[in-house]
Amino acid sequence: MPTDVVTMDKIVSLCKRRGFVFPSSEIYGGLGSSYDYGHYGVLLKNNVKNQWWKAMLQERDDVVALDSAIIQHPRTWEASGHLAGFTDPLVDCRTCKLRFRADKLEDAQCGRKPSKHPGETPDCDLTEARDFNLMFETTVGPVKEEGSTVYLRPETAQGIFLNFKNYMQFARKKPPFGIAQIGKSFRNEITTGNFIFRTREFEQMELEFFVPPGDAGSWHQHWLAERMKWWVALGLRPDHLQLRAHDADELSHYSSATSDVEYLFPIGWSELEGIANRGDFDLTQHANFSGQKLEYVDTATGERYVPHVIEPAAGVDRAMLAFLVDAYDEDQIEGEQRTVLRLHPLLAPVKVAVLPLVRKDGQPELAAEVYRELRDHVQAEYDEGGAIGRRYRRQDEIGTPWAVTIDHQSLEDRTVTLRDRDSLAQVRVAIGELVDVIRGRLGEPWRSPKLDS
Ligand code: GAP
Repeated sequence: MPTDVVTMDKIVSLCKRRGFVFPSSEIYGGLGSSYDYGHYGVLLKNNVKNQWWKAMLQERDDVVALDSAIIQHPRTWEASGHLAGFTDPLVDCRTCKLRFRADKLEDAQCGRKPSKHPGETPDCDLTEARDFNLMFETTVGPVKEEGSTVYLRPETAQGIFLNFKNYMQFARKKPPFGIAQIGKSFRNEITTGNFIFRTREFEQMELEFFVPPGDAGSWHQHWLAERMKWWVALGLRPDHLQLRAHDADELSHYSSATSDVEYLFPIGWSELEGIANRGDFDLTQHANFSGQKLEYVDTATGERYVPHVIEPAAGVDRAMLAFLVDAYDEDQIEGEQRTVLRLHPLLAPVKVAVLPLVRKDGQPELAAEVYRELRDHVQAEYDEGGAIGRRYRRQDEIGTPWAVTIDHQSLEDRTVTLRDRDSLAQVRVAIGELVDVIRGRLGEPWRSPKLDS
């Protein structure tokens, strides 16, 4: 495998420089592990989410959508097991006053110099480990009283289980079928870091797929294959992706089998998405806690059962980080170094940039006309400021796959040059055909040029 030039520092710097991601609350000195998504970050994130919705809803007929509340009845979290079990073991150091995850001491640094792992020097004075719940707590209503405590959801999944009955009644669905949701989740993580890889506020894309109990194993296999295909189709290099089955001692309280889709980030192989067999744990728990029947009944045969659940659960922010890392590249053009994001065109924040070669001779006017036509069909950007080479570089850095240049010939024969970000090939295209050409290219299969480098 050729060495990759990407590092996490380069990604963080590009994201800030080009307006993908900013540290949050910067004017107040920042808030650890909190980020704001800028213009290109929003466009990229939307493209990731749209591709997920497309794979779930448009390309299948056994999945329906949901957007449930972030704050749910507090009994939800008793039933789900989060109130009792969604904890990390914590230790405090009485000397340096820092707090660490007891099970990750080898990844942590103590607060004194020279820095060592907590517990490694005689000065370290660690407390016994105690459980710390990761859910953010708040209150509903103006008075903080008994019964007013609620939680920001730590996963979107539970909102789906709470709506299972609605979907059985109103959507008239029959297993196998799934309910998909994208939304924010919140976890008071103790160990954050690595940019947007692990934050306290993040977005999840989760599918709960309800199946007859006897079919859970084969549907688990189905979703492992489907989800791997999705990541590869959107350009992640297959040699940077792997499926890893959890050992028994890693499994969450609800899972009988989980495999993670892992990506080779600059920090090493790490989880992108978890694909779990949750069995009937959630529906049974919510049925017990709510007193409602949460089961499938076949009205023709009278057969009834509690469906089992297969859950592919991915993080949007982590997905975006993986796509950025996989796309980041540097090369030389005419002796100058260029930074380029070789993003899949479907994910690229801007699909096409329209650039007049010079800011005179009617070129800006024609370019503006071409831009107005293109932006009705794809996310386009108009840029007339600075030397043409610098404008190409700006677009390369945000991953724009194509640039349309209007030159003196364009005014004579209404053709333009279409430049390809990766091959740098330039072809002449009639203005009247541009929309079709770009749409055609967007529909073509794509593979990362980094695979051939
Ligand atoms: N409903 C199952 C569930 O939430 P999870 O493995 O805890 O499973 C699913 O989360 C995905 O959500 C992870 O694979 C990861 O991509 C993302 N995720 C989880 N915690 C995160 C965090 N603190 N910051 C960013 N993404 C996170």
